[in-house]
Formats: sequence, C-alpha cells, structure tokens
Amino acid sequence: MMKISLRTKLIVSFMAVIVICGLVATLVGLRLIGTGIVGQAQDKVKNDLNSAREIYRGETQDLKDVVRFTALRFFMKDAILESDIERLQGELASIRKAESLDVLTLTDREGRVVVRARNRSVVGDDESGDELVSEILSGKGVVGGTVIVPREELLKEGTNLAEQAYIKFVATPRAKPSRKSEETCGMMIKAAAAVRGYDGSLIGVLYGGKLLNRNYELVDKVKETVYQGVKYKGKDIGTATIFQGDLRVSTNVKREDGSRAIGTRVSKEVYEQVLEKGLPWIDRAFVVNNWYISAYEPIKNIKGQIIGVLYVGVLEEKFTDMRAGAVAVFLAITCGGMLAALVVSSFLAQGVLRPIKRLVYASHQWGKGNLNHRVKSTSKDEIGELAETFNLMASSLKERDDKLREYTSQQIMKSERLATLGQLAAGVAHEVNNPLGAVLMYTHLVLEDLEDKDSRRNNLEKAVAEASRCRDIVKGLLDFARQTEPKVEQRDLNETLERTLGLVEKQALFQNVKITKDFCSSLPEIFIDVGQMQQVFTNIVLNAAEAMEGKGELTVATRMAGDNEHIEIELSDTGCGIPAENQEKIFDPFFTTKEVGRGTGLGLAVSHGIIAKHRGTIEVKSEPGEGTTFIIRLPVNGKEK
Ligand SMILES: Nc1ncnc2c1ncn2[C@@H]1O[C@H](COP(=O)(O)OP(=O)(O)O)[C@@H](O)[C@H]1O
Ligand SMILES: [Mg+2]
Repeated sequence: MMKISLRTKLIVSFMAVIVICGLVATLVGLRLIGTGIVGQAQDKVKNDLNSAREIYRGETQDLKDVVRFTALRFFMKDAILESDIERLQGELASIRKAESLDVLTLTDREGRVVVRARNRSVVGDDESGDELVSEILSGKGVVGGTVIVPREELLKEGTNLAEQAYIKFVATPRAKPSRKSEETCGMMIKAAAAVRGYDGSLIGVLYGGKLLNRNYELVDKVKETVYQGVKYKGKDIGTATIFQGDLRVSTNVKREDGSRAIGTRVSKEVYEQVLEKGLPWIDRAFVVNNWYISAYEPIKNIKGQIIGVLYVGVLEEKFTDMRAGAVAVFLAITCGGMLAALVVSSFLAQGVLRPIKRLVYASHQWGKGNLNHRVKSTSKDEIGELAETFNLMASSLKERDDKLREYTSQQIMKSERLATLGQLAAGVAHEVNNPLGAVLMYTHLVLEDLEDKDSRRNNLEKAVAEASRCRDIVKGLLDFARQTEPKVEQRDLNETLERTLGLVEKQALFQNVKITKDFCSSLPEIFIDVGQMQQVFTNIVLNAAEAMEGKGELTVATRMAGDNEHIEIELSDTGCGIPAENQEKIFDPFFTTKEVGRGTGLGLAVSHGIIAKHRGTIEVKSEPGEGTTFIIRLPVNGKEK
C-alpha cells in the first residue's frame, strides 16, 4: 500500500470539505445569480411592454382628439352646410399636414366621401361600410382604434399609401408556415368623429388615420422613451416592433446591414401563444440576429379581434454579460475563500501535526534505546496528555531497564563466582580426600594396636574425630561440586516434603517449633532426585530451626506458580533473619555466621547446586529480626532422565 502521510490525509480531508462547500456555494450562487438576473430582465421587459402599450394608446388617443376637435370646428359645419368643397379641401389638407396624418377624409351623413384631404381626385365612393364610419353613422360621437385597411381602400386614399403598406415576406426560419408571400393590406391607427350641424343633427363623418407600415415614429418613440436610445456594444439595447398579424411592419430591430428588419415574421410559438390564444408571451427569443429578452402582447381592433402584436425586447447580451461578470466576481470570491481556507487548514494541520511528529520522533529515539529522551509537550489537550503518558512510560521503562541490567550483572557475577569456587573446591577436595583417607586408615591401625589404657589413645581418638570432620567437609565440598546429574524419577513433592519434615521434627532442636503445612493438593508429579531434594529441604529447615534458636514457627507451603509451569515451595521461619549485606552471600560455599565447628557454610551452596541441576531457582527474602523465607521454583516439565 502507498504510504500517505497524516499531513496529506488531513489536508486532503480539509480540502474535500472546502471543495464540497465551494461547489455547493457556487451552484447555489450561480443559480441565484442566473434566476435573479433573468427574473430582473423579465420584470424589466414586462414594464417596458406596459410603457409601450401606454405610448401606443396615447398615440390612438391623440389621433382621436385631433379628429374630434377638427370635426367640432365651425368652418366644418359652415362649409358643409354651404357645400363649400373648396374650402373644406383646403382646410383639411392643411390640418392633415400639420398633424402629419396619412389620411383625413370627410363623408356626408350617408357615408359617401365628400373630401379626401390626401387624394382629392377620388370622391363620391361609399365608406359607410367602414368599421369606424359605420359606428358614427349609428350614433357614436367619436371612435378610434387599430384597423386593417385593404389595398383598395389604401389606393383610394392615395397610391403611395398602398405602396408604403406593401411588404414582401422575408423567409424567417422559425415562423409559422404561410401560403402568403406578401402583404398588401395596411395596418392603421384610425379615428372617426361625427360632424354635427347647429341643430345637432349629423351632417358628416370625419375620419383620420396613420398608416403603421414603414412608419417608424411610434416604435422609435417607444425606444426613445423607454430605453433613452441606450446602446450596448454598438447595438440598441431596447427595441420595439409592431406586427401586422405575424408580419413585422414597423420596427427598430436592425439587420446586419443596418436596415430595419421589416418583412420578417414572428416565431411559431409566439404566433400560437399571442395571435391564437391572445395571451402575452415573455421569454428569451432570437429576433433577427440577436437574442432578446422579449415581451409580446396582442393588438386588437375595436371589435376585440386580434390583428397584430406589440413587441418590446431587451438585448440579452447585456444581461448575459452582467451575469458573466457577477459569476466571475462570485467565482473569484469563492476561489479566494477556498484558497484562504486551504492556507488556514494547512496551518491547522501543521499545528495538529507538530506535537505528533515529536511523539513519533521520541518513540524512534526510545526504540533505538535512548530512554533519556523526553517529549516536549506544550499543549494542554489530548496530545499533550499523550506526551505526558509517553514520558511517564519512558521513565518507568528506564527504571525497569536499569534494575534489570543491575540484576543480571549481579546474577552473572554470582554464578561465575560460584562456578569458579566449585571447580576450586572440587580440585582441592579430590586432592585432599586420598591423603585424608590414608590418615584415617593409619590412625585406626595405630589405635587398634594400642592398649585400652594407653594414655596416647585419647589424643589419637581426637585426631580421628578431627580427621572425620575434615572428611565431612570434603564430602560436602564434593557434593557441592558434584559433577553427576541427579537421578530423577516422577515423584510427588508434597510427599517428599512430608517425609523430610517427619525425620527432622523428632530432633531436639524442633521441640518448640510449630510446623505449619499448607500444601496444594493438586500438584502434578514432577521429575526429581528424591535424595538430593530431601537434602535441600533438610538444609533449609535446619537453618531455620537454628535461626529461631529452637523456638518459633516454621511454615511450609506448596503451590502452582502463576505461570502454571512451575511448582513453588515456600519455607518461612520466624527467626533472626538475614541482614541485607549477607543475603547475596549465603549461597557461597563456606559462608557461615556460625561459630567454628558448628557450621560449614556449605548447606545452602550445595542446595543451590542441586536446585540448579533440576533447572529450578532458589531465592531468599528476609527481614532481619522478623524472619526468613526461601522460595524454590521447580519446573513442572523437568527433564525426564
Ligand atoms: N533461615 C535462616 N535464618 C537466618 N539466617 C540463615 C538462615 N538460613 C541460612 N542462614 C544464614 O546463612 C548462612 C549459611 O548457611 P549454610 O549454607 O546452611 O551454612 P551453615 O548453616 O553451615 O552456616 C548461615 O550461617 C546463616 O547465617
Ligand atoms: Mg546450614
């Protein structure tokens, strides 16, 4: 597996959190910006459409006023009553020019044309079927609205009017397919008013109109009023269009070449929504060659039929650029924030890691054996606590280490010493044994020859006693330095102990010693040399009795050791105890505190040798004045041999 440092892991996890937060923030932000700006743009374009509608209605109202006031003027009544056609012609022509009307026409009270201000040559035709004139003839004072004017009517009003209205369709990709390829009718704002005589009776109908086809006055007014002609990257930011049906007849949307894009048509979706269902349509739309946030609503004639569409649109580019700008700022802030978070997190990681690194360094040091190294802890947190614990651990490790080292070196010295002494003793004993045997033999021979009453006999007997003592010592020495392996057999230790105690307790020395036995009944049988083991127990028990000077308590206990692989035999007395400085010497041969002739100092040395041969250990614990305890440990799986 790849080794990834804690630092990398920490930073990566910080990073993951930061990146996720950043992404979420970015997504939410982008969405908010997107819907915010689009929503704002749509609201704006909705308002713009309201303004455009007001301007359009204002224009109709103006026209209505012009026609109404002209119809009220006295010269009209007078000239009609006097049938002064010349005067009517002159006055109406100048009013038409002054008010920049395309059409201004007077009919008689039956609806037959009396005067055409624009085209004086065509008179006498019947206009009573006209939607507005018929309204006046049926009693209305004034009416106004948008109307579709057929080509014949336009021709009557003036040939150039029909030309102005004529528009050839321009192929528009997403328009609703149409069988027509041209538009010959015109769309007009038209108003009509009654002309009444002094008695109030109807004496004529005056109507005026403005052709919307190729007339850019209205759409440009909308552009100027609503958008103040603001441009964005050389393009008009706001545009307005009047559709006759679905055909663009008046607009300030420009083509690439700068000409006005009349002749193109509305898209199919808008057609269905606005022209068929009569509902407004607000959305982004591709108009001619740019995307616009667009609003469309139907234009109706006075009977409420849908005859066209009013459109305003705001260049989307401005909003998309605005959005892009906002997004860029937003992203910059987010990235900056993430970067800052990254820097902060790497600092934090550093802070967390520094003490851990110290711990790692310290454990490396300890591993190498440098237990004197200590971790510097500065923080009061869990890591600080950990450092404290580490230090404590190192201290106790060091303490244990020191003790162990001291103990083993002592142990080594001791066994070396015992081994040397053993060899020495064996050599001496061997050399001394034979001459001693000879001394004893010859002394006995001399003793046999002497008379019973011989005075030298006493001295010779003393010599025999001393020589015998020497032989005992030598025998002890040879025991101690014994080369032979113990003759082991599987035996019950409790029974061996029992037998030993049974032998000694009859002696005078044990008369006042209380012997307490605390034997574990479930001890396994182990391999021991019974004779040697009895010798060991006898030595220890005798020493105990001597230490108690024949009075006290001797406790003998057996048990399984904690490791379940050794049997422990514990022999405690309430004797004089052993001073600390002697505790390590008592297993040395010839170490004794007893007077000459009483102790040889070999008992424990021999015992130590025997236990060692059995692969066991013997140790002493003693408190001077209180008593002494010997603990013997023998392996359960001792060698069978
Ligand atoms: N139970 C004990 N209480 C006090 N001292 C003891 C005890 N056992 C041994 N010793 C001390 O250890 C010394 C060595 O004992 P040992 O080797 O048996 O030789 P010895 O008994 O001949 O002196 C004794 O002289 C005595 O000072
Ligand atoms: Mg002894």
